[in-house]
Amino acid sequence: MTENWMNEYKALVDREIDCLVPTLNNCAYAFVNDAARYSLTLGGKRIRPIIMLECCRLFGGDIKQALGFAVALEMIHTYSLIHDDLPCMDNDDMRRGKPSCHIKFGEDTALLAGDTLLTEAFNIAANSSVDDKRKIKAIAILAKRAGLHGMIGGQVLDLSFEKTKPTMEQLKEMCCLKTGCLISAAAEIGAVIAGATENQVALISEYAFNLGLAFQIIDDILDVTSTAEVLGKPINSDAENDKATFVTLLGLDNAKALASDLTKQALDILSSLNKDTKRLCSLTNMLLQRNY
Ligand code: IPE
Ligand code: IPE
Ligand code: MG
Ligand code: MG
Ligand code: MG
Repeated sequence: MTENWMNEYKALVDREIDCLVPTLNNCAYAFVNDAARYSLTLGGKRIRPIIMLECCRLFGGDIKQALGFAVALEMIHTYSLIHDDLPCMDNDDMRRGKPSCHIKFGEDTALLAGDTLLTEAFNIAANSSVDDKRKIKAIAILAKRAGLHGMIGGQVLDLSFEKTKPTMEQLKEMCCLKTGCLISAAAEIGAVIAGATENQVALISEYAFNLGLAFQIIDDILDVTSTAEVLGKPINSDAENDKATFVTLLGLDNAKALASDLTKQALDILSSLNKDTKRLCSLTNMLLQRNY
């Protein structure tokens, strides 16, 4: 990360992960928890928790109150990655610079580690110290954005587009679902915990969907332009799986131009909020320029 505040948020989240998802002793199924913790603590940019905490601060909330939800969202994101890497999905053997969960622990344990992260995320969210009304709203957002009409729906479309090539509109819809939804959940939940108005939540959500789509375009570009060492995951995975991506539909240059355009739209929405969005602006720009 390039800026201190991002590193500080990341450190807060990493510490909270250790508190809320501890190692287990004397438990017959501790190995599934070990596998879940392995994937959760390997690394990762922690972009979603950082966005959540910053959106909470932006609307006047106490970021400490959002930490439980930040961990819960990172758990759901990590579960999506574990399942995404399985042989029946993208069949990738490296994640966050280390062997993927199923390579290290076997497919059965990786599947259950993903299930554990998803389910325990809601346990953590339900027990977090947020005002009850806001907590219920935040849990509903988490479920909706991770669910069938959210990330899961996007993953379903991603797999189906290996067989039937999508139009540009269909590709955008798929990426908004598989990637935009969890990024938007981060922004929306941060705002809801801070007590933002419905209009403010809608605007920050729109910002995050633009950012999320740009984020997936860059991910597609890095899959063909980067190296496994820098990315921490295999390159050329998309071509090997015959995936439809922004690079296959648009070519590299047009894909980059679309990511810049979406970033600009995201920044415009931020400036319409009339708030101190300096940090979110630099994060948004940084994610466009990222190389991993
Ligand atoms: C990877 O997400 C999956 C996508 C949605 C593109 P990240 O790039 O945020 O992965 P980590 O958390 O840093 O490993
Ligand atoms: C993943 O998209 C989106 C998820 C919901 C996990 P990708 O399949 O492109 O993500 P990577 O490249 O494996 O991280
Ligand atoms: Mg995938
Ligand atoms: Mg993948
Ligand atoms: Mg990818």
